[in-house]
Amino acid sequence: MQFLELRALSKSYGGKKVLHGLTISFEAGDLVAIVGPSGAGKTTALLLIDTLEMPDTGETFLKGRPYSEMPPNELRRGIGMVFQNPALFNATVFDNVAYSLRFRGLPDKEVKARAHSMLELLRLDTLAHRRALTLSGGEAQRVSLARAMAYSPELLLLDEPTANLDPHNISIIEDALIKRNRECRTTTIIVTHNIFEARRIARKVAFFLDGELVEFSAVDSFFNSPRDPRTASFVKGEMAY
Ligand SMILES: Nc1ncnc2c1ncn2[C@@H]1O[C@H](COP(=O)(O)OP(=O)(O)OP(=O)(O)O)[C@@H](O)[C@H]1O
Ligand SMILES: [Mg+2]
Repeated sequence: MQFLELRALSKSYGGKKVLHGLTISFEAGDLVAIVGPSGAGKTTALLLIDTLEMPDTGETFLKGRPYSEMPPNELRRGIGMVFQNPALFNATVFDNVAYSLRFRGLPDKEVKARAHSMLELLRLDTLAHRRALTLSGGEAQRVSLARAMAYSPELLLLDEPTANLDPHNISIIEDALIKRNRECRTTTIIVTHNIFEARRIARKVAFFLDGELVEFSAVDSFFNSPRDPRTASFVKGEMAY
């Protein structure tokens, strides 16, 4: 059984179809990059997985159970989402990371231990008491990731988490994603415009174009021997993003 399965999802906005019967499955513990030009439907796919949007037709299954039959709270509890622009609370870095743990009613001692280990993972220890709204873009994104990982979601969705960041912040974020994926088997789906990033961290790559999945394969074959000529052209940088 697949961990997550999207079956024939279609979605339109204002009469324009942006996903055309998207079918794709993810194994438990996978680390998948979704790439493709602007407007291909990458963010829409993540929003459907996160239930922030609903498909017009089609169904998504988590461990074999259709989303439509799962209580929304139970479903969302297992999913962490990181957006390109982090929306942090006007509180300390520590409180931002601890929030979701307190919300889930964890004892104070465990909240502290887990939040600190996330701060350490994202190399934010020295910033724990800073007001989150005073952070740089890269630091804020690291807090956003620490917050999303703190409650150990089994599925982590990331929409261009490193766009516009410098190499130092990018490498901290990529290292944290790889480590969590390896140690906790967090199924991770990352949308990125950076094909070098996809190559560095992903085990599989999915290429979206005009609301369709063109190719989904292991990272090596995706980059070295793509099956579809459109993938080849995208990989060579010939396609406008
Ligand atoms: N809420 C919305 N209302 C109307 N159109 C939308 C909405 N959200 C997305 N779209 C349209 O759907 C299409 C797919 O958008 P989506 O955000 O999924 O693309 P993307 O692949 O994430 O692009 P990018 O790389 O630029 O982030 C685009 O043409 C976009 O304009
Ligand atoms: Mg997008």
